[in-house]
Amino acid sequence: MKILITGSNGLLGQKLVNLLKTKQEIECIATARGNNRIKDKQGYIFESLDLTNSRDVFEVIIKQKPDCVIHTAAMTNVDECELKPDECNLNNVIATANIVKSCKEIRAHLIYISTDFVFDGTAGPYSEEDQPNPLSIYAKSKLEAEKIVEDSGLPFSILRTMIVYGITDDIQRSNIILWTKKSLEEGKDIRVINDQFRGPTLAEDLAIACYEAAIRKATGLFHVSGREVISIIDIAYKVADYFGLDKKYIRPVSTAELNQPAKRPLKTGFIISKAERELGFNPHSIEEGIAILNEQINRK
Ligand SMILES: NC(=O)c1ccc[n+]([C@@H]2O[C@H](COP(=O)([O-])OP(=O)(O)OC[C@H]3O[C@@H](n4cnc5c(N)ncnc54)[C@H](OP(=O)(O)O)[C@@H]3O)[C@@H](O)[C@H]2O)c1
Repeated sequence: MKILITGSNGLLGQKLVNLLKTKQEIECIATARGNNRIKDKQGYIFESLDLTNSRDVFEVIIKQKPDCVIHTAAMTNVDECELKPDECNLNNVIATANIVKSCKEIRAHLIYISTDFVFDGTAGPYSEEDQPNPLSIYAKSKLEAEKIVEDSGLPFSILRTMIVYGITDDIQRSNIILWTKKSLEEGKDIRVINDQFRGPTLAEDLAIACYEAAIRKATGLFHVSGREVISIIDIAYKVADYFGLDKKYIRPVSTAELNQPAKRPLKTGFIISKAERELGFNPHSIEEGIAILNEQINRK
């Protein structure tokens, strides 16, 4: 089975390439904007691909003829999307339309990664049947891309996820766990939101869910996240506990006080029973996830 990944330099993209190249039955084609930033270049094919260029997307997909495309690439900085709506539309909506158009030529199974931000956060945790109500430009672009995938006539899966954490090879991209650890180690005060609730998702767990969706040819909408729904500040406290760091540097702040450009849903979280049942999804707990990250940091 041939699987093509978009956004292979991203957090999920890197985890997916590293997972798929270990699978005998899978031929993995990694694609990313610019150069390949994954350290290990063995065991898969790499094609440089900017998804906003429809002709290039078409050429690569027609040349590679994947059975399945896992579309992870997106403009993911929520505040940047709010400030640059045209760029957000281009990278999140038009790019997805380009992929759909090319996949239709070869009837590939399309797996699209979406977000808990499609919900307004007034009634979490959410199931796949709940009604979206996106609050930001980013969230609206992801929901619009979901619709393009759903209406494509292709066999598709949409995996919605949230607050994904993990380490990439370039370590450019931080996350709540790495940021808290580093700040507390350096004795720096951090302001952490105390009124937003999420289900943190280990990037490796999400990559496994994508792989399972591909090989099972599972179709439809799936909610894929960690099981525990906790406040962002409680994640920071868990990091402090795990590494034995001083919590006095963690300063609670409310969403209203922080006043970020993009609106965020207050309480999301997912009911993941459909993914457990149909994808065999079995995510790690937050403590287990922090321990896995710690091992990876120590190996670097
Ligand atoms: N991380 C989360 O907490 C989270 C939560 C909910 C949903 N999601 C969704 O999960 C997916 C994966 O997220 P992630 O955490 O892996 O994000 P990420 O680390 O920001 O990676 C996204 C990748 O997409 C690439 N990209 C953006 N525009 C592109 C284009 N026009 N052509 C080719 N590549 C392009 C970026 O390339 P560059 O590296 O060159 O910029 C980046 O490597 C995304 O669809 C995101 O919306 C993520």
